Amino acid sequence: MNQNLPVADARALLARARDALANAVAPWSGFAVGAALRGAEGAVVTGCNIESPTLLQEICAERVALLKALSDGHRAFTHIAVVTAKRPAVPPCGLCRQMLMEFAPDLIVITPNASGEPVQQPLAALLPDAFLTP
Ligand code: THU
Repeated sequence: MNQNLPVADARALLARARDALANAVAPWSGFAVGAALRGAEGAVVTGCNIESPTLLQEICAERVALLKALSDGHRAFTHIAVVTAKRPAVPPCGLCRQMLMEFAPDLIVITPNASGEPVQQPLAALLPDAFLTP
């Protein structure tokens, strides 16, 4: 089971997610999201949401970070921080919850509270009774 990060490390992961906001491609929604995924060895891979206005396709920041990390060969993940430019906290959407669960069932999700301080909660609490491939 993963443990909550010490608060200083959780703040640092939120800061990495905030840095990723700058690269968001969100002309359609105007809603930038940044994510920072921490691997079991401590490596951090960031992601931002990417929208394709013509195709009406979007990929959330969380899945961009996950796919980047998997593509780089990372396979074990402990924490993900998620921030938005417009609201303090956006917990991962349903699609992201499912995909994160498939690759990191013990993941801890970190979002900022209204003061910007980290709130840590297990992904399993956000996706109870999850379906996993038998
Ligand atoms: N989005 C994310 O990147 N992560 C979430 O958890 C929720 C939504 C993005 C998708 C889309 O580009 C924009 O936010 C508005 O839904």
